[in-house]
Amino acid sequence: MIPERMIEIAHKAQENAYCPYSQLKVGAALLSKTGKIYLGTNVENASYGLTICAERVALFKAVSEGDREFKSLAVTSSKKGFIYPCGACLQVLAEFSPDLLIITSDENNNYNVYNLKDLLPQVFKITLNS
Ligand code: THU
Repeated sequence: MIPERMIEIAHKAQENAYCPYSQLKVGAALLSKTGKIYLGTNVENASYGLTICAERVALFKAVSEGDREFKSLAVTSSKKGFIYPCGACLQVLAEFSPDLLIITSDENNNYNVYNLKDLLPQVFKITLNS
C-alpha cells in the first residue's frame, strides 16, 4: 500500500485519540503481511504513566487477533512537524518485525520512510536457555 494512503488512514484513526492531558492526538496504521490494517490511537490516563501510545495499541490489537508479521506502520499527529514513534514503541514493534517500514508524516502530509533498524539500531533481546 502506498504511504499516502497509510497516512490518510492513520490520520482518520487519530480522531479517536483519548488525550485530555496532553491534547496531542496520535494515530497509527499498521499494515500486516496478510494485507490487514490495524488502527491505533493514544489512550491516556489520569495516572499518566499508564498511558499507551497509538503504535502499541495498533500492534497489540493485531497480535491479539493472531497477526504477527508486518510490512509498514504510518504515524500521524495533531502537532506541527514530523512525529516519530517513541523508543518504547520501536522496541515493541521490533519484537515482531525488525525490518518494519516506518512512515512518519507532518501536518502537510509530507512523509519520510525509515527502516525500523535505522531508528533503533540496537534492540534489546534475550536468549532463553532451553
Ligand atoms: N504518544 C504516542 O501515541 N506515540 C508516540 O510514539 C509518542 C507519544 C502519545 C502518548 C501521549 O498520549 C502523548 O503522545 C504525549 O506524550
